[in-house]
Amino acid sequence: MNVLEAIQARRAIRSYLPDPVSEQTVRQLLRAAVQAPSAMNAQPWAFVVVQDRAALARYSEQAKALMLAKTTDDAKAARYRQLLSDPGFNIFYDAGTLLAICADPSSAYAQADCWLAAQNVQLAALELGLGSCCIGFALGVLNEPEVKRGLAIPERMSAIAALIVGKPRAIAAPVPRAEPVVLSWLH
Ligand SMILES: Cc1cc2nc3c(=O)[nH]c(=O)nc-3n(C[C@H](O)[C@H](O)[C@H](O)COP(=O)(O)O)c2cc1C
Repeated sequence: MNVLEAIQARRAIRSYLPDPVSEQTVRQLLRAAVQAPSAMNAQPWAFVVVQDRAALARYSEQAKALMLAKTTDDAKAARYRQLLSDPGFNIFYDAGTLLAICADPSSAYAQADCWLAAQNVQLAALELGLGSCCIGFALGVLNEPEVKRGLAIPERMSAIAALIVGKPRAIAAPVPRAEPVVLSWLH
């Protein structure tokens, strides 16, 4: 698969087989992550790997409760509230591996750097026959002081990007994209 093919083929995978992702594979993904560009080559990232299914289930429930407490009561948020209230909804879609990419959030480009690293993980996962999905839903709980302590995330750092990886149960259908909007093109 060449890079353009990989970019076209990558999808957010939301259904996983129980097969574990080996330590060797996780390390391969992390090595791909750190090849991402970073502003002034700061390489601000540090990684957390969670493969403890009980912990993942606990974080999922905590995340849902946290987000539910913050949702508004309007009709627009109704679907979101329904999802978060569903006891069968696991924010990690039962994937067995969560990667959190952490950095000092006060650094100007930390967000960009960490999400670029996440995209590298997604493309590398695809090449290795794995599926992945960014999980923004996880960031609230991962940045709870008690959870940070449990994951050895230093106080000065935050979890900035999070994604799951695992063996996909099925290939996800392509999600249509709008044509690029070009606001201006000066010649
Ligand atoms: C920053 C970010 C956060 C995301 N958070 C979630 C999430 O919490 N749960 C989820 O199911 N998908 C999440 N996604 C995946 C998007 O929904 C998905 O990328 C989008 O629908 C397009 O689908 P595709 O990736 O298959 O092309 C997130 C994507 C990004 C970039």
